[in-house]
Amino acid sequence: MSILIAIATAHNTTRDIAQRIATRLGTFHPTLNKKIDVLDVASVPPSSLPTYDAIIVGSAVHMQRWLSPARSFIHQNRQVLAAANKPTAVWAFSVGVPETAEHAAKEAAKIEGEIKRDVPGLRGHVLFKGRIEREHLPWPVRVYFRWFPGTAEFGDFVEWERVDEWADVVGREVMNGGGGDGGKPAEE
Ligand SMILES: Cc1cc2nc3c(=O)[nH]c(=O)nc-3n(C[C@H](O)[C@H](O)[C@H](O)COP(=O)(O)O)c2cc1C
Repeated sequence: MSILIAIATAHNTTRDIAQRIATRLGTFHPTLNKKIDVLDVASVPPSSLPTYDAIIVGSAVHMQRWLSPARSFIHQNRQVLAAANKPTAVWAFSVGVPETAEHAAKEAAKIEGEIKRDVPGLRGHVLFKGRIEREHLPWPVRVYFRWFPGTAEFGDFVEWERVDEWADVVGREVMNGGGGDGGKPAEE
């Protein structure tokens, strides 16, 4: 049983969340923690994809979309990710700082729709809260926020318990033979 967590990040929150998911998944089976790779999408050899039982793709959200390396990754590998005879279970997570719960729901639905164009059999997607600092913003936006203080909230909004809970759901499905067979029990 091996798992790939492939990510795209601008300021490393997505990487930290991926590492946390990997650690949590590693608790599901004594051997599993040696077989979970956390890699930048650009470092994933396409030929390695079919060797994984489950693939989790994660990306930071900019302008309500995944970063372009993550979008390219799922598009370029869509045939493997959606392979008909030995489908690999694919999950996805996004990391953003939506202003309200309503924005979060809309943003998550929009991103999920885009992912499903390339990965129709996506097993699950979640939007986690991340981190944002003034220095992360491009300078015109920074200037705007300096002129209108209080219009943006900066800080660390990561909800680690939510990350753990989601990793547990994925871990249970993977261990129950959820490797693309709809979650049915693994064959003897
Ligand atoms: C230029 C820029 C644009 C962003 N646009 C969005 C957005 O549209 N929606 C959102 O929820 N978060 C947005 N964010 C917040 C990031 O998604 C958040 O900071 C996340 O934690 C970044 O993850 P990373 O540290 O892995 O890059 C934006 C951040 C930056 C710097």
